Amino acid sequence: MENKRETFGSRLSVVMAMAGSAIGLGNIWRFPYLAGQYGGAAFILVYALSSFVLALPIFWAESIIGRRGGGNTFGALEKLAPGTRWKSLGLLTVLTPIVLLSYYSVVGGWSVDYLFKACTLSFQGDVQGLFQRFISSPWEPVIMHTVFLSATAAIVILGVKNGIEKFTKLTMPLLFVLIVAIVIFGLTLPGARAGAEYLLKPDFSKINAQTVAIAMGQAFFSLSLGVGTILTYASYVSKKENLFISGMGTALSDFLFALLAGFAVMPAVFSAGIAPHEGAGLVFDTLPYIFSRMQSWVGAVVAILFFMTVLVAALTSSISLLEVGVAYLSEEKGMSRVRATVVLGLVAWVVGILCSLSFGPLSSFKLMGLSLFDFLDNLVATWLMPVGGLLFVIFVGWKMSKDDVRDEFTSGGTCNVRLFNWVYFLMRYLAPVGIAVVFVTTLLN
Ligand code: TRP
Repeated sequence: MENKRETFGSRLSVVMAMAGSAIGLGNIWRFPYLAGQYGGAAFILVYALSSFVLALPIFWAESIIGRRGGGNTFGALEKLAPGTRWKSLGLLTVLTPIVLLSYYSVVGGWSVDYLFKACTLSFQGDVQGLFQRFISSPWEPVIMHTVFLSATAAIVILGVKNGIEKFTKLTMPLLFVLIVAIVIFGLTLPGARAGAEYLLKPDFSKINAQTVAIAMGQAFFSLSLGVGTILTYASYVSKKENLFISGMGTALSDFLFALLAGFAVMPAVFSAGIAPHEGAGLVFDTLPYIFSRMQSWVGAVVAILFFMTVLVAALTSSISLLEVGVAYLSEEKGMSRVRATVVLGLVAWVVGILCSLSFGPLSSFKLMGLSLFDFLDNLVATWLMPVGGLLFVIFVGWKMSKDDVRDEFTSGGTCNVRLFNWVYFLMRYLAPVGIAVVFVTTLLN
């Protein structure tokens, strides 16, 4: 089977597909509201450090395992450490992405609906309470979740080259163009300056243990780490490819996009006289309010462009979440690609419906005091992803032989030879300790 595996067509496609996975709702929905809640520029500084010093080494670790093991998480670990229990980590990484996909797709569905609302000029007039009414209704969000998930499945069924690669190559440049246009527009609004300053002038007194933990968690989420997504994508990367560069390229574009999203949202928020710490409703609740107060055609155009950006960014990430499990089922269990996609899609669909209903009809059903949606988000983002990331980096730093790691990272000694010792140090010591710190801090909270 080994030689029949697809590979990405070129270095550009690798970075684009990985960046497509990384850049998503995490950047455009989660990052701006976290930056707003946890101190603006100071938060961004901590986030930058976490992304490049702690998260990027895990990215490289997953790339090394994926390409050397040449397969899905389970197969790759079994090949590199035969007969050990490491392969059970593979099962975790099949389950986690599907759980994540199920509620990710609910938010993806919101963006489908909001794009639709923007196109039908629903953000003109009074939008107070619109978001609350929408997410608590039993039908609309469920239908939109179905639409979003079907689109995800359709792209995955087309395959790595014809589906994922084509789609990301087409859409990633578009995403950057769109977000830059929105940033430029936002900065011209009266009073926008204060918003830009909020993101640029750090107030160091805002940095504390919680800020650091949240920033690290966000860096993880944003780079798609800890669940085997990057590992699986790396197995499609050709042996000649430079892993240092594909990792660095992805991390840089992911970081840049988060910053741009911050600058697309925050100046507008300040210009409307709204406080930056609105929380999770910042994009779906506050922005429509801002659009509704603009001159009607301007508001409509900006709203359409904005929610189109959210939707496309969400799609390029959700396909990567589905691909992890599809690679596993088709390679380990001999299922056809179509069948694997349909089976996993159905699981995510059912769980997602329950998540969606947890904002409305099922809102009284609580797990550990949280709605199903919040419970799963918490389970995945605070626990399963960091555990996965920690185990991956321990595998590379402590289980694989240093020679093997060097051979893979330097593509057989042809590149990155001088950088290797630094990267190895980060993977062996700094990243595991960093993640342990996140754990202890979250536990203490
Ligand atoms: N990184 C994506 C975002 O920022 C979400 C995502 C896609 C993800 N695949 C993942 C997160 C795998 C964790 C693991 O929206």
